Amino acid sequence: MKQQVGIEAITVAVPRRYIDLEDLARARGVDPAKFTQGLGGLEMAVAEPGEDSAALAASAAAQLIRSRKVDPVRIGMLVVGTETGVDHSKAVASYVQGMLKLPPTMRTFDCQHACYGGTAALNAVSEWIASGAGADRVGIVICSDIARYGLNTAGEPTQGAGAVAMLVSANPELLALDLGVSGTFSMDVHDFWRPLGRREAVVDGHYSIQCYLDAVSGSYRGWRTRALARDLIRAGGLPSEQLARILYHVPFCKMAKKAHAQLRRCDLEDRSGKPLDQTAEAEETPRAAASFEAQVAPSLGLSARVGNVYTGSLYLSLASLLQREAAGLAGKRIGLFSYGSGCVSEFFSGVVGARATQVIASAELDRVLSERERIGIAEYERIINLPPDQPAAAPTPPGGFRYQGTKEFRRTYA
Ligand code: CAA
Repeated sequence: MKQQVGIEAITVAVPRRYIDLEDLARARGVDPAKFTQGLGGLEMAVAEPGEDSAALAASAAAQLIRSRKVDPVRIGMLVVGTETGVDHSKAVASYVQGMLKLPPTMRTFDCQHACYGGTAALNAVSEWIASGAGADRVGIVICSDIARYGLNTAGEPTQGAGAVAMLVSANPELLALDLGVSGTFSMDVHDFWRPLGRREAVVDGHYSIQCYLDAVSGSYRGWRTRALARDLIRAGGLPSEQLARILYHVPFCKMAKKAHAQLRRCDLEDRSGKPLDQTAEAEETPRAAASFEAQVAPSLGLSARVGNVYTGSLYLSLASLLQREAAGLAGKRIGLFSYGSGCVSEFFSGVVGARATQVIASAELDRVLSERERIGIAEYERIINLPPDQPAAAPTPPGGFRYQGTKEFRRTYA
C-alpha cells in the first residue's frame, strides 16, 4: 500500500482580544446586518504589537508539541507560511525555533505567496515525507498572520489575526492528503498586495473577489480531471457533491458561499456544455444555498469569530469542521481550496482519519476562544494605532509567547 501522508494534528493560537462586529458597524454608522449577514462575520481578533506573527506562530506550535508529546529530535522541517513576517530577511521559522528551543538539525524556512503560503508549506513538507527524504521524521507547518486594512476602510470588517500549527507526518490522523491530485491556477494580478514598508494591505476589493472566483473555477477543474482519472470520484451527477465537505480560503465567511456557488456552476455548465439559462439559474439558486449549508457552513464557525488569518484561514476552517463533525466524517473525502492573492490557488483533497475526533479534542479550541477578552471600539482603535514595535503591554499567556522589544535591531520574545 502507498504510504499515507498528511495532517496528524492541528492547534490554533489567537490574540487575547477581539471586537464584536456589530459594535464596529455601529461605530462606523453602518447597518450591523451588512457585517453579520452581508459579510458573514460575528467577531474579529485584534492583535496588539506584542502579538506579532512570530509570537502567535510560536504559541500555536508550542501547544502542538506539548499536546502531541512530539519529540523535538524527530522534527526534520519547520516551515512557516506568512505574508506578515517580522523581518525582510530573517524567517519567522527561525524565531519560532529559538522561542521553542528546538534542535539545530531541522530545516527551517518561510513560504510567502499571500494567503497561499501555508499551502505551499504543507506541500513542501508532505512531499518531503512522501519522497522518503524525511526518513521517518515529521514536519511542522505553521500559518501565522495579522490581517490589517486600516480604520474606516471597506476591508476593516474583514481583518483578523491568528496562527494555525499542523503536525505533518506519515500518520495522518486528521487528514490523509490525496498527494498528486490537485488542481492549480495562477495569474499576475493586482487584487490585493502590500508594498514594502506598509503595514496595511492595498486591495481592489471587488476585483479581488472576481480573481478569487476565477481561481476557484481553474483549480477545481484541474482537481476534478485528476480525481476522475484516479477514481477518487465518479463521472455522472455533480462531482462536487461527492465530496463530504468543501473548505475554502475564508477572507470573510460570505466569500465561501460565493466560492461554493461558483464551484457548482463549473460542474453544471461543464455537464451541459453551456452557460446556465434563466430557468436553470432559478432552479440552482436554492440548491446552491442548501448545498452550502450542508457542505460548507459547518467549517465556518472559527472564521466567523476570528476573522481573516490570511495563510491560516483555510486551516482554521479545517480545525472548525473537525471540531464539529469529525466523528461523522471519518473515512470520508473532503475538498480544500487555497487562494493567495497576486495570485495562485490550489484545489486539493484528503480523507478524514478514524481518530480525528480524539485528536482535535486536544487542540482545546473552545478554551482558546473562551480565554479571549471582548473590547470596545475605542480600545481597538488605540491598539491599531500603536507603533508596530511597541513591546507587549499584556502579560504573556501561560504557555504562549510575546514580542518584548527590539535591541540593536534584534527582536526579543518571552
Ligand atoms: N444587510 C445585509 N447585507 C448587506 C447590507 C445590509 N444592510 N448592506 C450590504 N450588504 C451586503 C451586500 O449586498 C454584499 O453582499 P453580496 O456580495 O452577496 O452582494 C455584502 O454585504 C458586502 O457589501 P459590499 O460589497 O457593498 O461591501 P464593500 O464594498 O463595503 O466591501 C469587500 C466588501 C470588497 C469584501 C471589502 O470588505 C474588502 O475589500 N475586503 C478585503 C478584500 C477581500 O477580502 N477580498 C476577498 C478575495 S481576496 C482573498 O481572498 C485574499 C485575502 O485573504 C484578502
